[in-house]
Amino acid sequence: THCILLGAPLDEGQRRPGCLMGPAAYRVAGLAQTLVALNHSVEDRGDVLPGPAPRATCTNRAVHHLPEMLAWTEALREATADALQDGLPIIMGGDHALALGTVAGAAVHAERMGRPLFVLWLDAHSDIHTVESTTSGNLHGTPIAYALGLPGFDPFPPFPHPVPGHNICMFGIRSVDPAEHAAMQAIDITVNDMRVLDEYGIVAPLRGFLDRVQAAGGMLHVSLDVDFLDPSIAPAVGTTVPGGTTFREAHLVMELLHESGLVTSLDLVELNPFLDDRGRTAKLMVDLVGSLMGRKVFDRPTRSF
Ligand code: ARG
Ligand code: MN
Ligand code: MN
Ligand code: MN
Repeated sequence: THCILLGAPLDEGQRRPGCLMGPAAYRVAGLAQTLVALNHSVEDRGDVLPGPAPRATCTNRAVHHLPEMLAWTEALREATADALQDGLPIIMGGDHALALGTVAGAAVHAERMGRPLFVLWLDAHSDIHTVESTTSGNLHGTPIAYALGLPGFDPFPPFPHPVPGHNICMFGIRSVDPAEHAAMQAIDITVNDMRVLDEYGIVAPLRGFLDRVQAAGGMLHVSLDVDFLDPSIAPAVGTTVPGGTTFREAHLVMELLHESGLVTSLDLVELNPFLDDRGRTAKLMVDLVGSLMGRKVFDRPTRSF
């Protein structure tokens, strides 16, 4: 696979500084070298540069950095759509607001290819607020609602080709705000919260979703938020929520994604290197990408018993 690294050093989608060091941390942690060792070709296109922030306002007084996010969204949509023509984009964030742009770029490309777009959201949070419903004002909590084409995104350009709810699957969810809960109940969206994963494990729900992507001939955008992982193994994130996925579960998700051969683009989001412990979170994220891109302990058929 030809892997295209795109740095997205933005931290305006939330209030704690530090995520803008994410791309540098992934480079230091050896993301490119990990991919090369797995026999992939790697092209690091450097950091995406947003254009000048346009004038923009909205009625929700809590929202901050709206003009900056509009500029990032446009730049990342273009960079992601362009990269998809040449290979598999891996967007190194940056907070989760970057997905306002990357999912839009994936949607532009999927439409161009005449294929449906599916989104796998690996996160403690559902990120389905609109610009109007967010109470924190942090736009990293909004990309799913934007991708669905929900109303309430007035200053943003309309989402290019909205992703239907049944093409979106969330895993690891354990923190949902009331407005988000209401939004999800009104939509046909697959929410595999921790309750589901505790009861069924991750394999059956994930295979179920991947089978649907495969059957539809879909493209698959994966958005991996550091807080999908339990804070005990991934401390470098501003929005820790206890009870996350374990080291083994997370690698298993990545291995199943690799075996599916369906992933066409990937976000790595919310890493805040300033909060890390000797780079362990950055290294874990790089190792998870390694599993997603084919690293195995032992090469054999999956079902060997
Ligand atoms: N729902 C909360 C909010 O709107 C938390 C969002 C956290 N999102 C994230 N990408 N970490 O502020
Ligand atoms: Mn272009
Ligand atoms: Mn998130
Ligand atoms: Mn999150």
